[in-house]
Amino acid sequence: MEPLRIALLGCGTVGREVVRLLREQAADLTARIGRPLELVGIAVRRPDRDRGDVAPRELFTGDALGLVKRDDVDIVVEVVGGIEPARTWLTTALRSGKSVVTANKALLAEHGAELQAAAAESGADLYYEAAVAGAIPLIRPLRESLHGDRVTRVTGIVNGTTNYILSRMDATGAGFAEALEEATALGYAEADPTADVEGFDAAAKAAILASLAFHTRVRAADVYREGITEVTAADVASARQMGCTVKLLCIAERYTDPDGGRDSVGVRVHPAMIPRSHPLASVNGAFNAVFVEAGAAGQLMFYGQGAGGAPTASAVLGDIVAVARNQRTGARGPVETSYADLRIRPMGEITTRYHISLDVDDKAGVLAAVANVFAAHGVSIQTVRQEGRGEDALLVVVTHAATDGALRATVAELTTLDVVREVASVMRVEGE
Ligand code: NDP
Ligand code: HSE
Repeated sequence: MEPLRIALLGCGTVGREVVRLLREQAADLTARIGRPLELVGIAVRRPDRDRGDVAPRELFTGDALGLVKRDDVDIVVEVVGGIEPARTWLTTALRSGKSVVTANKALLAEHGAELQAAAAESGADLYYEAAVAGAIPLIRPLRESLHGDRVTRVTGIVNGTTNYILSRMDATGAGFAEALEEATALGYAEADPTADVEGFDAAAKAAILASLAFHTRVRAADVYREGITEVTAADVASARQMGCTVKLLCIAERYTDPDGGRDSVGVRVHPAMIPRSHPLASVNGAFNAVFVEAGAAGQLMFYGQGAGGAPTASAVLGDIVAVARNQRTGARGPVETSYADLRIRPMGEITTRYHISLDVDDKAGVLAAVANVFAAHGVSIQTVRQEGRGEDALLVVVTHAATDGALRATVAELTTLDVVREVASVMRVEGE
């Protein structure tokens, strides 16, 4: 049997585990695919580095593009990350008819259309199950199983690092920096953790999910994004008092135009307080979970390990098997569409509830002055709680649903009131 020859780009947290699974499960994989898989080269940044017994030394090279172009390569597996040079490697592979398996969400969210076009031109496959939510099968259900249905909303926790940090802050009162250090040591965080904690990683995943769910090209820049660096221990404690916990959510939803005009899609990533009774509240550590709501299917929930070497490698291996099977039978993987071309809804038009903490003077008339500002912008107050602290007080306001635009205008005006010393925090409340 002719082996199917793999070029692996990257041998870090994920790549190492891909090599291990290819080696340990070789016999089963051969039986499942009908021909053996052979690793013919591994491109890394530092080919001379001692990597123990991960793979024979002669397989390592520093010339990734040279490896991609080799005639004895059938599939390119990319687990390096970033835009360039990965974009050049993968378009080169796809244009020459070599199928690609990648975990690179940053690249897909930015240049997914270009990669899809290159694959379509040459008839190669492009698979990327590992790019969103690690081990959880999510791309395949959206790209295949739900293609007969109409998806209306996707809500989830799609970043393991931030979920780990927020879970630690909630459960143990750990500080942000300490929890981030732990997440990095466990292999969850990106090489530069800014991508995780500032929400870029989740925004890239949100763009990929929204593109598939709504048949519309959504790029990372179309996603409203806030990270968790501003979430304080006080926010977490305040959430707890309300029977809530804080999670970094990814929300993509379809809005039907009531006047029969063009539908729109709103895609956002931000921290939010959710009730502890909500199913997402019990998703802790590096686990991810995603709810998909669809017209006929109703509610579906996907849950599992969203980060880490072995879980992510599991998804990569699944894609390698899919490509290998396609090559054996002469089939092609599913082709994506963006025919719906929904309008991207600006954040200012998105409606949600808010939790606002204000440092105010503790004197007569303050509550009325604050309430007037909310009323002037049409933002209805649901509850108000005040804690006196001597000369000043902490005022915690929870609103009914209001547009983001109205809320921003309210906050801007609150900051101009003499009696408001500081708007200490503004956080969305979801899930009720
Ligand atoms: P690592 O930083 O652990 O590994 C990156 C690998 O790429 C290293 O082997 C590195 O080489 C190699 N590399 C970097 N730059 C180059 C270059 N210019 N040329 C050749 N090789 C290069 O990353 P991860 O394994 O964590 O992540 C890989 C991909 O998987 C990323 O796209 C990430 O977003 C994605 N992903 C990661 C998950 C995780 O939990 N870690 C989960 C899901 C997806 P060297 O070893 O010499 O430094
Ligand atoms: N850094 C990412 C996370 C890896 O923490 O979720 C998985 O994509």
